[in-house]
Amino acid sequence: MKKIGVGIIGGGLMGREMASAFARWCALMDVEVQPELVAVADLVEDVRNWFRRIPSCTQITGNYQELLANPAVDVVYVAVPHHLHEKLYCDVLAAGKDLFAEKPFGIDLASARRIEAAAKASGRFVRCSSEFPFLPAAQRVMQAATGGKLGRVLEVVSGFHHSSDLDATKPANWKRKSATCGEIGVLGDLGMHACHIPLRLGWKPRRLFAQLQKGHPQRPDGKGGMADCDTWDNALLHCWTEIAGHEVPLRLEMKRMAPGETNSWFIEVLGTESGVRYSTKEPKTLWVFENGKEQFWKKTDLGFGMPFKTVTGGIFEPGFPDMIQQMWAAYLMEREGLLGDRFGCATVEEAVATQEIFAAALESHGQGIVKAL
Ligand SMILES: NC(=O)c1ccc[n+]([C@@H]2O[C@H](COP(=O)([O-])OP(=O)(O)OC[C@H]3O[C@@H](n4cnc5c(N)ncnc54)[C@H](O)[C@@H]3O)[C@@H](O)[C@H]2O)c1
Repeated sequence: MKKIGVGIIGGGLMGREMASAFARWCALMDVEVQPELVAVADLVEDVRNWFRRIPSCTQITGNYQELLANPAVDVVYVAVPHHLHEKLYCDVLAAGKDLFAEKPFGIDLASARRIEAAAKASGRFVRCSSEFPFLPAAQRVMQAATGGKLGRVLEVVSGFHHSSDLDATKPANWKRKSATCGEIGVLGDLGMHACHIPLRLGWKPRRLFAQLQKGHPQRPDGKGGMADCDTWDNALLHCWTEIAGHEVPLRLEMKRMAPGETNSWFIEVLGTESGVRYSTKEPKTLWVFENGKEQFWKKTDLGFGMPFKTVTGGIFEPGFPDMIQQMWAAYLMEREGLLGDRFGCATVEEAVATQEIFAAALESHGQGIVKAL
């Protein structure tokens, strides 16, 4: 396999997740490229030290500019708080490196558009992280949506629910403050996951009405005091989109306060003839609606039908680390021009489109209006 040198800026939750996906690359059977983690940059020494367990990662630095100057780095993955996206992404591009960005691709719409302009001007290969569409069931939902058997689409629901913010004792962090997470709050945190498949299918909202809710206004600051938390925690976006010439309701749901939910990503597409429904809450199970004299919801347990073949047996079930690895396979194979008809990572245009939706949602909620996009 051709080796691609990867540098990671921001070695926190997602930086380490990506590094571990590279470390078990031998699982993949039909890729011609292999990421090799050669460098990491993080401000925190303890975070940096974790990367010492990866032999290929020979540059470990607190200064990301040093990583950008490393000729062994071809691709840079950046996983830092949202207020730093624009500066770091643009620095990566200016250094002549390809970029695998994290969502929400800037702290707001204006920032996302500036990153888009820098990406276009640089000519570098840029994609944005969004892993759920690589799940077998998500692929099946997209096949159903494009397969012509749904009849007239009646409605679409796509969302992502967490419950962790219900815990009032959970310390404040950058994701709960507008200055670092963005005024968009939960939209920036979870919105790409809800929007990606509808956008890829061409189902961009035409207009929307948003209901946004805040969570606990203060949380422990980790130093014995309390810190203000001002981001939106829950968002319901009631949208209209157009599918095959019909106006169709599309509901996008993003919640950090959804009782009982732990990383539940879900999508439902209902048509007059057929429909599909999936949630990671039942990770193997795809529900398919069949119309007829009697109506049925059929369920099937899916196996390991990932876009890129692996050594994992077909009856086994995939999980979060598998989607992350598949997403990287798609990024690197597309970068080589070898993606074929497989699903590609979120594009720059799709990332900017999510921010257009989030900006419209803020306006809609703020003014209590239906906002056209
Ligand atoms: N795709 C997904 O499923 C998913 C899940 C969680 C988070 N994210 C995204 O990933 C990004 C990071 O989130 P996270 O949860 O990993 O955050 P995190 O807080 O766990 O990690 C961020 C890291 O960035 C480091 N950092 C901050 N400023 C830096 C700088 N100037 N130079 C180098 N390092 C710096 C911090 O020290 C920290 O270790 C965000 O954009 C977030 O939205 C994506």
